[in-house]
Amino acid sequence: MKTSKSKRKKRKYTVSKYKELKQELSFEKQLFQSFLDNLPDAVYFKDNKNRLIRVNRFYAKGFKMKLEEIIGKTDFDFFPKDQAQKMFDDDNYVLKTGSPIIGKIERTLLPNGTHNCVTTTKIPIRNRNDKIIGTVGITRDITEYDHIEQGRLNMVMSSLKVLDRVLEIRDPYTFGHTRRVSMIAEKIAKRLGWDDDRILELRLSAELHDLGKILIPLEILNKPGKLSELEFKMIQEHVKRCYDMLKPHAFPFPMPEAIYQHHERLDGKGYPRGLRGDNIIPEARILAVSDVLEAMTFHRPYRAALGLKMAMKELKDNAGPKYDKDIVDVAIKILEENNYEPFWLAQDPTI
Ligand SMILES: [Fe+2]
Ligand SMILES: [Fe+2]
Repeated sequence: MKTSKSKRKKRKYTVSKYKELKQELSFEKQLFQSFLDNLPDAVYFKDNKNRLIRVNRFYAKGFKMKLEEIIGKTDFDFFPKDQAQKMFDDDNYVLKTGSPIIGKIERTLLPNGTHNCVTTTKIPIRNRNDKIIGTVGITRDITEYDHIEQGRLNMVMSSLKVLDRVLEIRDPYTFGHTRRVSMIAEKIAKRLGWDDDRILELRLSAELHDLGKILIPLEILNKPGKLSELEFKMIQEHVKRCYDMLKPHAFPFPMPEAIYQHHERLDGKGYPRGLRGDNIIPEARILAVSDVLEAMTFHRPYRAALGLKMAMKELKDNAGPKYDKDIVDVAIKILEENNYEPFWLAQDPTI
């Protein structure tokens, strides 16, 4: 009898606990749903085949679809193929490695044909056994912020063009040189698969790479005929002069160093420090090839343009010992695709 009473008591306690847990669970569910529904970011859960299993209202609203219409679909149902493929690859990376992707900035094409800029974070979803069973992503629209950034960037680029202009007014023979070098460098870096930020840094370095010439006497810079050893040394000074101007300022990328190294050669026979091989950073290697291509195909006061054939010969003959072979190969490939037209000469250098 005693035993049966205690059992009843135990059952009564279990039922009330059960109710309490149910209430707690319901509250947690409500809280989570409210969080999802009111979040001004797109939230989406996917299974291990990258199919959407749950999204929040913000996500559905973006595609003007009902929540239930989205379930089971993949990014390939909403985005252009190449864009969806990148998202698919990111999901697979998270599924495979268990590592999150945090704050990746992407530009996406929307159904209405406009582009937006978003930042995306993806993390793995694990079951009780710690097995990864899917992913959850959060995407925030930062288009407005991106426009502000773009405006600032345009301002920086315009300031650089003013600096270029100062150099060109002083020495008209250098007109457009840095912009053309920048154009070539950008094409090479793109072909090498560099990301947009790194390409932008390279372009800035190219725009400024010869700024140090502003401190070199014009009669030496443009002297026709052979230079004396001292005069040549003075011209070589332009890299150090530019480096010294830039170095005290904070750049989040190796711009001063790229400029300092743009006349270095892999065999150590460049200047000013005679750096060798891996001590020369990739940015400087691209600048070196771009600088040679531009300089040899454009006239100078002390000589006529040597032409593209000669420039290509210089690069091919010295690919490996002097210039980075991969970069030379890419440059030659780009030229091949342009029917051996120096595309940098066709553009208006004032733009
Ligand atoms: Fe230079
Ligand atoms: Fe140059």
